[in-house]
Amino acid sequence: MITIAIAKGRMQESALALLARAGICLSNGVNSRRLAVMDETQQYRFIFVKPADVPVYVEHGIADCGIVGRDVLLESEADLLLPLDLGISRVRIVVAAPDPEAMTNVQGMIRVATKYAQIARAHFGARGIPVEIIQLSGSVELAPALGLADMIVDLVETGVTLRENGLMVVEEIAESTGRLVVNRASYQLKSDEVSRLVKALDAVIS
Ligand code: PRP
Repeated sequence: MITIAIAKGRMQESALALLARAGICLSNGVNSRRLAVMDETQQYRFIFVKPADVPVYVEHGIADCGIVGRDVLLESEADLLLPLDLGISRVRIVVAAPDPEAMTNVQGMIRVATKYAQIARAHFGARGIPVEIIQLSGSVELAPALGLADMIVDLVETGVTLRENGLMVVEEIAESTGRLVVNRASYQLKSDEVSRLVKALDAVIS
């Protein structure tokens, strides 16, 4: 048996749909509140955890594999194998601001609100732009309107949240899709089970 950690939230539905297409179906309906569920064949155990915790469970070997967004992996320092880009839950990681000239108009140090401190620091650092990072846990789009920040670094999927909060994309940093991640030891010690999973997923994405 192998354990797969699934990121709860935006990724969950598309990850389970992809697994189902690969022939791996949960035994206990998706709507259940249980956080650990077996598949119908009892070969896979799924645990549902916060996205940022997926790399933690997989790196520590509590889960052998995980499905999580590249956005989360860019923030994480976990040492994991990444055999597959699953192509699900595609989003852009962007810099957004109330006006297109925000980058040049700000007086003094630019204040950037984000859930993605590492990504933001790396992006502005690479361009030699000094910024103050204001770490938030969600609803980041509120920060410029309330005067907490000049701009944000956040995910954009449809663009509705930005638009409804008076923000526009001023720079694109990266694209993010769901990735399969694998614990290094599991890759060796459970090579048959892991490669069966990788092959089953690869067959439905390509
Ligand atoms: C993400 C992101 C934006 C929104 C973008 O939030 O942080 O707020 O989705 O989607 P849209 O472009 O389709 O409007 P998420 O749902 O992950 O929640 P949170 O940031 O509030 O935690």
